[in-house]
Amino acid sequence: MNGSRAHDSSANGQSLIRLSDLSGSRVGDVLDLAERFKAGASRRELEGRSVGFLFFRGSLRTRTSFEVAVQQLGGHGVHLNADSDFWDLEARDGVVMDGNAAEHVRDAAAVLSNYCDAIAIRPRPGGRAWEVDRRDESIRSWATHATVPVINMESTLWHPLQTLADLLTLRETFGQDLRGKRLAICWTPSPTPSSPAIVHSLLLASLRAGMDVRLAHPRGHELDGGVMSEARGLVSEGSGSLTEAPSTAEAATGAHVVYARSWSSLENYGNKTLSAHRAASTREWLVDESVMKRGEDAHFMHAMPIRRNLEVTDSVLDGPRSLVLAQAANRLPTQKGLLSLLMRT
Ligand code: CP
Repeated sequence: MNGSRAHDSSANGQSLIRLSDLSGSRVGDVLDLAERFKAGASRRELEGRSVGFLFFRGSLRTRTSFEVAVQQLGGHGVHLNADSDFWDLEARDGVVMDGNAAEHVRDAAAVLSNYCDAIAIRPRPGGRAWEVDRRDESIRSWATHATVPVINMESTLWHPLQTLADLLTLRETFGQDLRGKRLAICWTPSPTPSSPAIVHSLLLASLRAGMDVRLAHPRGHELDGGVMSEARGLVSEGSGSLTEAPSTAEAATGAHVVYARSWSSLENYGNKTLSAHRAASTREWLVDESVMKRGEDAHFMHAMPIRRNLEVTDSVLDGPRSLVLAQAANRLPTQKGLLSLLMRT
């Protein structure tokens, strides 16, 4: 129990809201540790310690891999689901709490900090206005009010845990130096698209690694303006390159990696029905063999869950160039590496 441990919620490397909360060398440390875990290293860094997992929406990979990571490090995970175990929480300060939220994040965070040595959270976006949801108020409020590290298990804007696994997968495939490797990030259709969190985190991390990124999506599916500004800022500082392509086929031409992901239209963000209908009827964005053949021995990546034959064909997904299962598998060692680093005493 660490209720008295000082915690600075700014990007000091203790909490992880977005990947850039870790310096480049600390990201490297996490990946090095992950490789050691994969090579068979056993560490009991979390012996006698507890991690609280708060899910405000569902997860298959993150929940399972994180709970197993804690267990393998000798710790104990406490899983709470907002739909069945507790209630809506208020993140805004100074409001009269006469709505659905029965408790404020500042109170819940203070209490759980006395039981747990870290708190991992997957918040639920409001889903009405992108300008509101993009502030990531819930996870930021947790990081402000908790006195233990807070780990983002996918907020509206960022999914740093997925990106750590993606970086390890890229490192295993191409070696440590990713400079000049061409990454095509391609929007794919889905009737249940998620936020662009995974793509935001991937975009900035791949540029930081010096990759040449091509981005393809239909009109209306532009990424967050603030994230794109950051991306262009990295490029202007000489870190990687970024171009936009009008189609999946063009983005994939010459690519070493085709990374597919469906994300919701930020333009139609408050209108899920319109957004989903448009997305589901946009079949030209399917990744198939003809797209992959345009690449340079291109590998296929996707963070999952995947809608087969809508986002990507069975033959690409199950084929020899697919890294999808490796990405999913790498969630476990990278999260063990992260926990070891964040919770090192
Ligand atoms: N990629 C990912 O975060 O998967 P889950 O939503 O199943 O956790």
